[in-house]
Amino acid sequence: MKHLISPLDLSVSELKEILNLAGDIIKDPQKYANVCHGKKLATLFYEPSTRTRLSFEAAMLNLGGSVLGFSSADSSSAAKGESVADTIRVISNYADICAMRHPKEGAPLVASIYSSIPVINAGDGGHNHPTQTLTDLLTIQILKGRLNNLTIGFCGDLKFGRTVHSLINALVRYDNINFVLISPDELKIPAYLREEVLEANRMPYKEVKVLENVMPQLDLLYMTRVQRERFFNEEDYIRLKDSFILDAKKMEYAKEDMLVLHPLPRVNEISAEVDNDPRAVYFKQAKFGVYVRMSLIMKLLEVEPC
Ligand code: CP
Repeated sequence: MKHLISPLDLSVSELKEILNLAGDIIKDPQKYANVCHGKKLATLFYEPSTRTRLSFEAAMLNLGGSVLGFSSADSSSAAKGESVADTIRVISNYADICAMRHPKEGAPLVASIYSSIPVINAGDGGHNHPTQTLTDLLTIQILKGRLNNLTIGFCGDLKFGRTVHSLINALVRYDNINFVLISPDELKIPAYLREEVLEANRMPYKEVKVLENVMPQLDLLYMTRVQRERFFNEEDYIRLKDSFILDAKKMEYAKEDMLVLHPLPRVNEISAEVDNDPRAVYFKQAKFGVYVRMSLIMKLLEVEPC
């Protein structure tokens, strides 16, 4: 049985299969409408979510399956002190596959050890968010036409942003990727990512503080929200929250075919005026998340099209 806990749990060829299947689902969704008939997905969300939980649920419903679960720790027996290990032992009797989001790094990994059904990490603390990475890769492949030969700017909270950590981990396996890391000093990527991922893989990267200076070089700009929930004090959050605001003026520095991605939710870091720019693709990106999760569920349940 396979779980998806880290983006590196999938080889490059498995990633390609998932993205290709997602592409086929987009072309002919009807072909997949009943492939998970009789199967159940449990969504175990100990932390808030709009896109990830609901796109997982939409994905399973689109495949003809059913969904059950909880959307906050408070509405589960975690509030009474139940461990993740005990919870997943029980849920394994109720569902065929589960997606888990948890504020503690490593909680979905623990669940996978005690589970008898596939466990998908739907975001663990500031660590990883592998299904957002699948969403991001599908978006880049479809809208940019390639997953190599790209200069990618990551901007905002690179310290706590798990979507950034996961996507960097996944992208180092593709050819000719240049990383431009744009953040204040306090929100730089963690040292392990710099040393054990970027430097260990000899990836070209630079760390800068001014977005406008690097905009003309970028093929993709991956904006991120400053992660209020991960800060130890509110003062630091307030000081850093508006470090970068992408607006129409800054977009003038960008290439005509540069794409702006954002895992969402967005707070202030992208002005609403950018939404109408054809290069702003973050709402399309959220839509692709449903198709790639349909593909992932099929792969983990080893379900074939009818
Ligand atoms: N991108 C993402 O994880 O969004 P949610 O927190 O709404 O699930």
